[in-house]
Amino acid sequence: MTLNGHHRTVLVTGASRGIGKAICHKLLEEGCNVIAVSRSINGLFAGVGGITTYPLDLSDIKQLPNELRRLHKQHPEITDLVCNAGVGRFGSIEEFSPEQIQGLIDLNLTAHILTAR
Ligand SMILES: NC(=O)c1ccc[n+]([C@@H]2O[C@H](COP(=O)([O-])OP(=O)(O)OC[C@H]3O[C@@H](n4cnc5c(N)ncnc54)[C@H](OP(=O)(O)O)[C@@H]3O)[C@@H](O)[C@H]2O)c1
Repeated sequence: MTLNGHHRTVLVTGASRGIGKAICHKLLEEGCNVIAVSRSINGLFAGVGGITTYPLDLSDIKQLPNELRRLHKQHPEITDLVCNAGVGRFGSIEEFSPEQIQGLIDLNLTAHILTAR
């Protein structure tokens, strides 16, 4: 996949396993470059061409804008974004503390909005 004749460079969050990891492999197959983000991404994809790993905790909302600025400075070539990182917690709403609810919203919503911004 190209954009104006150049390879696309896709930032994929939650790239260490599951759906995000599968998306990374698919994008590499399609000829994209990938910036793979998660907390435990270091050492994964070792020896795989076209992919750069970038460890980042997306739940630290206070630090996130600065961290994302640093990431973008290192990788101004990013053309596309896959917001995939997240967690699912299952149970009745009364079983969740306000802190747990805030944590879910921070990671599953606010972090994605800040990353897209
Ligand atoms: N699988 C399903 O049936 C399903 C259904 C509905 C929605 N979803 C959503 O789809 C997305 C992918 O699902 P999945 O099943 O592939 O999930 P998964 O296997 O649990 O993987 C989640 C990914 O998010 C990353 N992540 C978690 N917390 C993070 C944090 N604080 N900062 C940065 N990265 C973080 C994890 O990496 P690290 O642990 O290395 O940080 C991991 O790479 C998730 O957002 C999930 O909630 C999945």
